[in-house]
Amino acid sequence: GIPAYVVVPRTAPRCKQAAIRAYGATVVPCEPSDKSRAETASQVVQETGGIMVHPNQELSVIAGQGTIALEVLEQVPEVNAVVAPVGGGGMISGIAIAIKALRPDVKVFAAEPCNVDDCYQSKIRGELTPNLHPRDTIADAVKTNIGPNTWPIIRDLVDDVLTVSEEEIKRATQLVWERMKLLIEPTAGVGLAAVLSEKFQAVPGDVKNVCIVLCGGNVDLGSLTWLTDLSGKAQ
Ligand SMILES: Cc1ncc(COP(=O)(O)O)c(C=O)c1O
Repeated sequence: GIPAYVVVPRTAPRCKQAAIRAYGATVVPCEPSDKSRAETASQVVQETGGIMVHPNQELSVIAGQGTIALEVLEQVPEVNAVVAPVGGGGMISGIAIAIKALRPDVKVFAAEPCNVDDCYQSKIRGELTPNLHPRDTIADAVKTNIGPNTWPIIRDLVDDVLTVSEEEIKRATQLVWERMKLLIEPTAGVGLAAVLSEKFQAVPGDVKNVCIVLCGGNVDLGSLTWLTDLSGKAQ
């Protein structure tokens, strides 16, 4: 019964926005940039007296995402590496904390589109290096920058950051659709793209069992022409 307002870039998949509304929250649109999202969110907090829950810098959100790693360790104890896409870094941070606490021998890799490679740049430079003018990426859910809470965790606990091109992301996403019959969104394809990339060949040979986190499935199926035709006919 607690009202929720979710600030969402206006470019986010329509099915994601529809689901937020269907779960009973109010969608508050913003422009697709960290600046616009922060401004819009603070306006909502002012107007509603709400409590801000940051999607990736909030510590309890990071802790919650650590349960992904707990499930992996429970279900696949023979795992040697976990790969997950990185946007603001909440998910990879939660995973890295849990993995390195329980199984420090397991590698943790972040996967990131080349077009928005702030996490990669930060790791190389050894300091938080936000991308002030991110390019566009089909992996819309990871366009955002890592932040002050997630950077130290990524710096200390993530073994490496692997970047991938837009083409690699599209090919990996298509492969999952066609071979695994799983409806993943392109952001989820980033992790597989990283593992299929040449860069991953440099990972030591004893890393045999790799777990890739397929982290989301928001795809606007309405953009498939045969489905659009079908809904047209049904009306
Ligand atoms: C589908 C999907 N994958 C990955 C992420 C990345 O999470 P983070 O911003 O915590 O790195 C998000 C974040 O919203 C997401 O929606």
